[in-house]
This record gives sequence, C-alpha cells and structure tokens, in this order.
Amino acid sequence: MGVEIRVDGLTKAFGRQVIWEDVSLTLPSGEISVLLGPSGTGKSVFLKTLVGLLRPDAGGIWIEGQDLTRLTEHKLYEVRKLFGVLFQDGALFGSMNLYDNIAFPLREHTRKSEAAIRDNVLEKMEMVGLSGEGGKLPGEISGGMRKRAGLARALVLEPEIVLFDEPDSGLDPVRTALINQLIVDLNAKTGATFLIVTHDINTARTVPDNIGMLFRRELVMFGPREMLLSSTEPAVRQFLNARTQGPIGMSEEKDISELEAEVALGHDPGHLPPIPPQLLPSDRRLRASQHPPGEWCMANGVLPPEGSFVDDEGRDWTREWPRYVQAASLGAAGYYGPGDHR
Ligand SMILES: Nc1ncnc2c1ncn2[C@@H]1O[C@H](COP(=O)(O)OP(=O)(O)O)[C@@H](O)[C@H]1O
Ligand SMILES: [Mg+2]
Repeated sequence: MGVEIRVDGLTKAFGRQVIWEDVSLTLPSGEISVLLGPSGTGKSVFLKTLVGLLRPDAGGIWIEGQDLTRLTEHKLYEVRKLFGVLFQDGALFGSMNLYDNIAFPLREHTRKSEAAIRDNVLEKMEMVGLSGEGGKLPGEISGGMRKRAGLARALVLEPEIVLFDEPDSGLDPVRTALINQLIVDLNAKTGATFLIVTHDINTARTVPDNIGMLFRRELVMFGPREMLLSSTEPAVRQFLNARTQGPIGMSEEKDISELEAEVALGHDPGHLPPIPPQLLPSDRRLRASQHPPGEWCMANGVLPPEGSFVDDEGRDWTREWPRYVQAASLGAAGYYGPGDHR
C-alpha cells in the first residue's frame, strides 16, 4: 500500500501573483511527510494542486508513471480516487449526520450495497474513535470530533495517499496530541502515503518521517526529519525552533533593513535544541516505513544536537531501538514508548 508522489518543478500563480515556483520533492511511498510554512505561503494551494483541484502553471506531478498535470478531466477523476483529503475545517455537510457524511464518497464513487457501505463506515468510525456517534450533526459536536469525522470520510475509499490540511489547527494541545497519535496509528494500519500541512512546530518535530518548508515562494528544504531538525539554514532553524530572531517576522517576512539590524546587533542564533524521539504507534508496533532514530544523522556524519533522541524518562532511543524492534516483532504488549508514563 501507498504510492510515491514525485513533484517536479511545480509552479503556481494566480494572475501575476506567484504563490510558489519550481517546487520539487518526492513523497516516499508509505511515509509521513509534513509541509510547514508561515500562513499565506500557499500550503493549501499546494494540496489542492496535488489532487488536481487547481492546475499548476508549470511542472509535473508524477504518480505511478503518469503526470497528473497532463491528464484529461476524465482520467483525473479516476486518479483522484487514490487520494483521501482532510480539508482544514473537515468540510462536512452541515445538514447530514456523521454517518451519512462519512458514507458520502462511497455512495458517490462506488456501487457498493448499503450493507457493505455500513461495514466500511462503522470500521472507519471505530478507527477514528467515533463509534456510536453516527447520528450526530456536525453542528452538535466539537472541532476535534469534526476533524476525526473528516478523517473517517477521507479514509473510506481506502486511499493510497492521504492529504491533511492543518489537522491540528484550532485544537487545544491535548486534542492536538491525540490527533497526532491517531495519524501515526492510521499510517501504521493503512501503510498509505501521508502529507500533513501544518504550522504546529511540535507536530512537525515529532510526527513525520520527512519535513518540507515553504517560505518566500519556494520550497526552502525537503528531506528526512533529522535533516531539517539539525539544519542551520536560517529560515528552517527559525521556524522549526519557534524563534523570534531570523528571517520570518510577524508580517510573515521581515524586510531587509530589519534583518540587517539584527545581524548588526550580533544576535546569537544559539544552539539547536535536541531532536525529540519520533512518535510511535500506540500499539507499539513498527510502521512499514519506520526509520530507526538517528539513522539519517549517522549516515550523513551529522552530530545531532546534545540530548537528541532522549525521551522524558531519560532513555536514549538510539540505544533503546534494537530492544523496541525485537519487542515489536514479538508483538509484545506493554512496551513503553517515548512519552509513556508508568
Ligand atoms: N483560488 C484562488 N484564487 C486566487 N488566489 C488564491 C486562491 N487560493 C489561494 N489564493 C492565494 O494564495 C495564497 C496562498 O494561500 P493558501 O494556500 O491558502 O496559504 P496557506 O494555506 O499556506 O495559509 C494567498 O495569498 C491566497 O490569497
Ligand atoms: Mg491553508
């Protein structure tokens, strides 16, 4: 399960306003990738372009040997079935209950019987923790529940690729942690390729296998999580470490004079904070696309910041890893992961 998506030299403009240009990246099959960027940098436009709701001005989007940007509407309609999309607000139909909302893509795109639809919908509702809530209307539930319902709907067609537009926006920290865990668990279960758009730094630091960052109309960097979290590129470092000093200002981009003033003041960019251990599936198994902690740093001769891969209990996950893998392969329950408390 899961397919690779290769984006090559993609450019999107509305009239004379260039949103981003020459974006190239590969979302590896089955892996979780995050796209970060200040608001207004065109993250939502990027997702809409990937699914073919917007046409790019240049470049290609390659999936299974086909360039999506060259397909006819009819063929595009077929390819879209590979995608499940969780839109920013859940995009549920307000007059339909949750069950009918989640069943909607099945009724629209398949000829399945109502009995088969019911099995699928109930399974997905259980996956996202909404069992028994099918009769409720979107207006009667919390924002977090609406996101989970949107997620269940994004999953009913068993997509190979799932795109999430800010699944964590508007949620409190506890609900954000819960939805992040849910995303990791769903990736473990489905093996689909995930792309999550967010501006939550904690999500970007702990959830994905890969991170990309959009800034000033370009993709500044895209690569393994450890590569970006150990990067000293100014915009990447500032954003991933939530610093006020750096090229990104309140008005999204500081002007040149402000930047020069900061340099003149000799601001110490400081040390990079430790790379946290990656969030693991709650059933303590391995995702098919799981990379061992420290793998990228080791392979690239990068010394990770002091204290990296150490959890709240002081365990160093580069050392813990072989034991975890062994326990996971035995299906051993009760193994404690990062963030667990005994
Ligand atoms: N359909 C559209 N027509 C014209 N401009 C658009 C359209 N959609 C988005 N934009 C513009 O593209 C820019 C990026 O928007 P968006 O992708 O929503 O940013 P983000 O999701 O990163 O916050 C904004 O300036 C927005 O006004
Ligand atoms: Mg957006």
